[in-house]
Amino acid sequence: MVIYDPASSVLPKTFISLLIITGLVLTMNGQEFTIEEATIREIQQAFADNKLTSRQLVDFYLNRIQELNPVLRGVVEVNPDARDLADEADREKQSNGGSLGDLHGIPLLVKDTIGTKDKMNTTAGSYALIGSEVARDAGVVERLRKAGAVILGKASLSEWYRIRSINGVPNGWCARSGQGVNPYITSGSPCGSSSGSAISVAANMVAVSLGTETHSSIICPSDHNSVVGLKPTIGLTSRAGVIPCAPRWDTIGPICRTVEDAVYVLDVIAGFDPRDDEATREGSQFIPEGGYKQFLKNEGLKGKRLGVVRSPFVDKLHDSAIAASFEDHLSTLRKRGAIVVDNLHIANIDEILDPHRSGELMVMATDFKISLNAYLKELITSPVRSLTDIITFNQNNPELEKLAEYGQQTFIEAEESTGIGEKEIQVLENLEKLSKEGFEKLMKENDLDALVTPGSRASPILAIGGYPAITVPAGYDSDGMPFGICFGGLRGTEPKLVEIAYGFEQATKVRRPPCFSTSELSEKASV
Ligand SMILES: *[C@@H]1O[C@H](CO)[C@@H](O)[C@H](O)[C@H]1NC(C)=O
Repeated sequence: MVIYDPASSVLPKTFISLLIITGLVLTMNGQEFTIEEATIREIQQAFADNKLTSRQLVDFYLNRIQELNPVLRGVVEVNPDARDLADEADREKQSNGGSLGDLHGIPLLVKDTIGTKDKMNTTAGSYALIGSEVARDAGVVERLRKAGAVILGKASLSEWYRIRSINGVPNGWCARSGQGVNPYITSGSPCGSSSGSAISVAANMVAVSLGTETHSSIICPSDHNSVVGLKPTIGLTSRAGVIPCAPRWDTIGPICRTVEDAVYVLDVIAGFDPRDDEATREGSQFIPEGGYKQFLKNEGLKGKRLGVVRSPFVDKLHDSAIAASFEDHLSTLRKRGAIVVDNLHIANIDEILDPHRSGELMVMATDFKISLNAYLKELITSPVRSLTDIITFNQNNPELEKLAEYGQQTFIEAEESTGIGEKEIQVLENLEKLSKEGFEKLMKENDLDALVTPGSRASPILAIGGYPAITVPAGYDSDGMPFGICFGGLRGTEPKLVEIAYGFEQATKVRRPPCFSTSELSEKASV
């Protein structure tokens, strides 16, 4: 059991040497297996070849977390039972002999809003929920455990999805673990809100992770930390047992280093859950027979129609390296057989991209209050039972929660909301119209398989329509800051998005693990 105290942020002088000592290469029986950057498939192969055990993998990641996390703060807490769970997975492998499924024995972090019925806390990064107890595992965690995955710990996040104070709470900051740090550029943003899930996977502190997205929370941190993020169609994965943000738009998805890993995780977590009945009943109809692995095809780009909307996604790029790389990537996509349909327009795009103006934020705050209060009431024990209680908790613990600095303005606005009334219904009808006349019309009229955008700016389009997307590492800007390329599609089109993303990834293989610079890290750690 390790709690990372935000106050004890002094970087050990031996930091880099520790990194080397830990050994990123495991040598057994004379054969080398490198855990760093290993994919699920490679890990399973190493298990099968008796080169590696789940226990060794868990030990490696726990050591790595111990070394790196005081600086990177991607992990809120580790599972005190992780080693035992790995031992159990290893015993199952021994007695079973064969393969037990792709995630068996694989260590995984889940965002700290995803409920686990074990020794760990589920707190959305806040001290307010310390001491609360969930009734049962979240639906996605149930599926992970059944598949034999080892829940290694809880990933940090932008506290309460930043709904506490949208302009106040920095991306990647939560009271319990402090400011999450981008492992590529410590002064760069890790984005959020699934910041810790992306940081931890990027820095090889874990094999794979889960994040959640309402509005850009998987796509943006994955983009900023050079990893693959998959935002599933609403209802493809269960939200039961997950601290809600705005259930009409919330979705749970994988954050991984490769498209293949993301697909392996999606295959396990997707599906019907009676506890999230309505959404998953609809969402699970999209799941193809045989799952998503069959769409990991090298030729996946062939014949795919990809739309490019230059204004404002390409025209307004701040860095010429990103702009140039996007053009290169378009030509790669074409070379691999995709048809790029360029210079398209989305009606009312300015309104869609401005969540204040479109009313998206107002509905989100309203939904948050209703759904959070319902979530809190269902906890077995909890020091807080309503949004009002949390606001009071923050007021009573200003130092813990950095209240003076970051405020809780959006909480207060949410608290003042009075449910989905006439005004909210009007906003929702308008958002639906914006989606129909905007993204859906664009996709249908041009017979597109995906909209391709540099970075994560298309997120509001994807949010209000409940559409899926995948981001894949696409490069590093002139400062070394990572950026991704995002493929978004209509509801239920994950098979196509996987084909496109995998085809792109195999053609480019852009991702590099971060190189930790001692000076940068010590500077950051001493702040
Ligand atoms: C949960 O939080 C409490 C209070 O900070 C702490 O004592 C406990 O160790 C935490 N659990 C884990 C698994 O870290």
